[in-house]
Amino acid sequence: MSKTLAILTGGGDCPGLNAVIRGVVRSAVLERGWRVIGIEDGFDGLVGEPRTRELTLESVRGILPRGGTILGTSNRGNPLSYPVEEGGETHLVDVSAQVVENFRNLGADALIAVGGDGTLKIARALQEKGMPMVGVPKTIDNDLRGTDVTFGYNTAVSIVTEALDRLHSTAESHHRVVEVMGRDAGWIALESGIAGSADAILIPEIPFDMKAVCNALTKRKERGSRFSIVVVAEGAHAKDGDKVVQVSGAENLGVERLGGIGAAVADKIAQCMQMETRVVVLGHVQRGGTPSHFDRILGSRFGVKAVELIEQERYGRMVSLQGRQVSDVDINDAVNSLNRVDPEGDLVKSAEALGIMLGRARV
Ligand code: F6P
Repeated sequence: MSKTLAILTGGGDCPGLNAVIRGVVRSAVLERGWRVIGIEDGFDGLVGEPRTRELTLESVRGILPRGGTILGTSNRGNPLSYPVEEGGETHLVDVSAQVVENFRNLGADALIAVGGDGTLKIARALQEKGMPMVGVPKTIDNDLRGTDVTFGYNTAVSIVTEALDRLHSTAESHHRVVEVMGRDAGWIALESGIAGSADAILIPEIPFDMKAVCNALTKRKERGSRFSIVVVAEGAHAKDGDKVVQVSGAENLGVERLGGIGAAVADKIAQCMQMETRVVVLGHVQRGGTPSHFDRILGSRFGVKAVELIEQERYGRMVSLQGRQVSDVDINDAVNSLNRVDPEGDLVKSAEALGIMLGRARV
């Protein structure tokens, strides 16, 4: 039976979004002869006058290597708590009924929501209000449960690894601190730090002991190393301190913005090592540019699988990678808690066995 499906991309942009959109359109149109409607700017595109466009084979031609998303995205447009300006003040209003109504008027059978934790939670809530959905896990942070990996993560890790390689050749007699993204998960810091041969990696899951970090860097110096490279996840914090928040959730429609821990760690290292220590904040560079081959393939496979789930009317599911197999899980298994690094897990243990300081003294 012919179907019409809608797709939107929500939250921050991420390499591989266009691969998902292309995968959805090609498998829906070529394999099944279905219609695909693209919703612009995430859920924002269904508030007020809907902003949508027909997605055809023509509209997805050549987008596989392109970063960002051809549909646009928004990380401020939660329809359940939507910011509306009135008399110079911002009020949060529930516009979900309007969003579901606009969706119904599109004549679509189901929605493919491509996003991270926030977007998928919104999609789950809207499904309960009558908008059948299938989720696709996106985030460079890799902090979603229910899948071995999210798309976008591999590209971000490659970008940070390359930056660490480049920094090595400039760090001949200085310490370098590199602050990376990841919110409250240390995946980007840990894997890029191992791949880029960092000397210390500080992640949110292991509150760090600055004294132990300085001791490790001092030992390195005594062994003849003239510099150290320290990777710090933006959500990392000292044992006796809190994470560094740039903009609080209260000031930013519930979305906390992290950043600044790299500079704080660099200051401490400069003091304890008596050596110039410079900080590099990689920021949105980690989300930019062309997706890696891994993310192009994963995004494409996720798109194909999402269409298959809609064909089977298996709504409320999220596509997922399990081992080498693309499969699916209940959306509730993905968004109820975060996927964070296990401080006693194999990855952490391997890093420590390689001599990398992870912020704690080893027993
Ligand atoms: O979730 C992806 C991410 O890049 C995080 O790693 C980072 O903390 C956040 O988004 C930055 O958000 P924004 O682009 O809104 O500043």
